[in-house]
Parts: sequence; structure tokens; C-alpha cells
Amino acid sequence: MENGFFITFEGADGSGKTTQLNNIKTFLQEKGFDVVTTFEPGATKTGEKIRNILLHSEDSVADSCEMFLFLADRAQHVEMFIKPALKQGKIVLCDRHTDSTIAYQGYGRGQNVELLKKLNQIAVNGLSPDLTLLFDVSTEIAQDRVGKDKDRMEAAGIEFHKKVRNGYLELLKENPERIKLINANNSIETVYNETKDIILNLVTNKRGKTNA
Ligand SMILES: Nc1ncnc2c1ncn2[C@@H]1O[C@H](COP(=O)(O)OP(=O)(O)OP(=O)(O)O)[C@@H](O)[C@H]1O
Ligand SMILES: [Mg+2]
Repeated sequence: MENGFFITFEGADGSGKTTQLNNIKTFLQEKGFDVVTTFEPGATKTGEKIRNILLHSEDSVADSCEMFLFLADRAQHVEMFIKPALKQGKIVLCDRHTDSTIAYQGYGRGQNVELLKKLNQIAVNGLSPDLTLLFDVSTEIAQDRVGKDKDRMEAAGIEFHKKVRNGYLELLKENPERIKLINANNSIETVYNETKDIILNLVTNKRGKTNA
């Protein structure tokens, strides 16, 4: 049984995940919590190699190859990094996780969503986020924020990214307890305040129950 909290940050490229994750890390540390941040793909040594193929491959990557690479990275990340950190009682803030696979490879690339959910289960081996923050932003705004210097996933086109956004919103409908929607069209400060309130609520509530 893990003692920490596992919080995942999800949403489109340019939705502000990394910006907010860093802000929240600082906020929680100042409150005295033991926090680590991490990301997918590429947080482990093995994952770094996988990330390089995923984001910077020079030849075209088959859709199914892309899917297995993301899952392989996750399996390694969960066993080698996330689970040990949670066992130590840390709050783990993770930039992208299982929902990204469903949204991007499932809804975006058209892989079978139900099958992907099962493969995700193998990759996480019993782990599930205590909370997922979905930073929802209009595709046009997100693409503007990403700018011209796009990696392979970011450069996949507006139609692809609209499908991805729709996929995230489907996941929200299916998992209303776990996933909380944040309007990421707003300013960085407004988004931060909303994010902070949701996280603080979870962390104090659960800690309260544990101590009761
Ligand atoms: N709410 C916001 N309003 C305006 N600009 C923002 C907002 N949030 C983030 N940005 C800016 O948009 C850019 C992308 O933000 P960020 O890197 O946090 O997104 P991301 O979701 O992590 O994207 P990726 O999935 O590509 O890593 C950055 O330049 C950041 O400063
Ligand atoms: Mg980011």
C-alpha cells in the first residue's frame, strides 16, 4: 500500500502542464510537503532512449510502434521511479501519464481505445492516480503557445490535436471522480489558483483521513 499521492497533469501540448507543475511543486514544498516531479516519456535512463525515438526519430514511426514505445516507457517509469517514491510517502507530480496514451494514440491516431486501456493496465501494474488535472485549452490557443519549434507530436496537425482534446473530454466523462477539469485558456495565474485549490483540497482531505 502506497502512502504518497500520485497526481498526473494531462492536456494538449501547450496547455500549460509543465508551467503549472513547476508552480505547484514550489507551492507544496513551501507548505512542507515532500514532493517530486517527473514526466512521461523519458524520466528513466531507459526511458530517455525511448523518448529520443518518439520525439526526434528521423524515419517515420509506425503508429503501433509509437504506442508500444510509450507503454514501455511507462512500465519502466512506474516500477523504477513512481512506485518507490510513493512508498516513501512522497507526493509525485507527473507530467503526462496513462490518459495521454488514450487521448493521443487512441483518439488521435485511431488505435483501439479499449485495448489501449488494457495495455495501460499492464504498464501501470495496479497503480492509479489519486488525482488527474486536465488542462483543457482551445486547440488554436495551444498551438499558438507551442510556437514554431515543434517536436514530432506537436507538429501532427490541428485536426489531430482536436481529436486529442475530444479524447481527453471523453475520459473526463468516464472518470469524473479522478479527473478534474481546469480551464487552461485563462491566464497562468488564474489557472495556478484553480490548480492549487484542487490539489490542496485532496492532500489535506486524504492526510486528514489517514491521521484520524
Ligand atoms: N495560461 C497560460 N496563458 C498564456 N501562456 C501560457 C499559459 N500557460 C502556459 N503558457 C505558455 O505556453 C507555453 C507552453 O506552456 P507549457 O510548456 O507549460 O505547456 P505544456 O502543456 O507543458 O506543453 P507540452 O505538452 O508541449 O510540454 C509556454 O511558453 C508557457 O509560458
Ligand atoms: Mg510540457
